[in-house]
Amino acid sequence: MNTHLDPDSPIGVFDSGIGGLTVARALRAALPNESILYFGDTARVPYGVKSPDTIRHFSTQITRFLLERHVKLLVIACNTMAAVAAEDIRSLSPVPVLDVIDAGARSAAATGRRIGVIGTLATVSSGAYEQALHAHASGLELHAQACPLFVPLVEEGWLDHPVTRLTAEEYLRPLLVHRIDTLVLGCTHYPLLKPLLSSVAGPAVTIIDSAETVAVCAAELLDGSGLRRMNPQPPPHRVFVTDVPQRFRAVAERFLDESLPEINFVTL
Ligand code: DGL
Repeated sequence: MNTHLDPDSPIGVFDSGIGGLTVARALRAALPNESILYFGDTARVPYGVKSPDTIRHFSTQITRFLLERHVKLLVIACNTMAAVAAEDIRSLSPVPVLDVIDAGARSAAATGRRIGVIGTLATVSSGAYEQALHAHASGLELHAQACPLFVPLVEEGWLDHPVTRLTAEEYLRPLLVHRIDTLVLGCTHYPLLKPLLSSVAGPAVTIIDSAETVAVCAAELLDGSGLRRMNPQPPPHRVFVTDVPQRFRAVAERFLDESLPEINFVTL
C-alpha cells in the first residue's frame, strides 16, 4: 500500500459509459464524505463487443488519466474491463483497485445455488464470472448469457420500453428454463433495467447488483488503510466523458433522479 496517499484525494470510478454511475451512486450512499471522480468513455462505448486487446488498451488509457488526477482508489465499475483488463489495470496502479466482478460473485455465491449471469459478449466469453464464483463457493450450477442489445438500449434511455421488455424475455428465457434462483447483473448498465428484469425473471429469482457490495468493500478498504476522508467540507465530485455530454446528462439524471455536477468533455 502506498503510504503517501491522501485521504482527501478522490476515488476514481470508471466505465465505458453511463452504467458505472450505478456504482458511483452506491459509493456515494455508503461513503457520503468521499469525493468521486467518474470517467465514462462515451465516445467508444460499447466495449462489450470489442476485442480483448482493444479493451485492454482503452482500460489502461483511462487508468493513466485517473492516476494523473491523484486518485487514492480505483474502482473498475465496468464488468467488461474487469473481465478482460483487471490484471493490466492492477499492474499499472500504485493505488488499490476494486472491481465489480469479484464483488458480484461474492454476493451471488452467498445467495443461491443455481446462478444465472448476464453480461456483455466479452464478459461472458472471458469466463471471469465462472472463475470468480467457483473461487467463492463449490457446487454451484452456473448458466451465462450474453445480452449485447442491452447496453445500446440503456444508453438510448429505453429503460422501460416494449422493445427492451421483448429483448429481456428473449435473453432470460434460456436461463429461466434452468430454474435459476439468482441472477447476477454482470454489466453495470443492467441495474438501470432492474425493475424490468425483475418483472421478467419473476419473484423466485434474486437479482444481484454488485454496486452495493463494491461500496462495502471500498468502505472496508478505506477504513483499513486510514484513507477515509474526514474533511468536513462537502466533497467535490467530477465527471469526465469522451463524447458530447448532453445525452449522458439527460439519461443519467433521469435514472439517478438527481442533477449531476459539471460534466467535462475530454479526449484521451
Ligand atoms: N458497462 C459495461 C459492463 O459492465 C459494459 C458496457 C459496454 O459494452 O461497454 O460490462
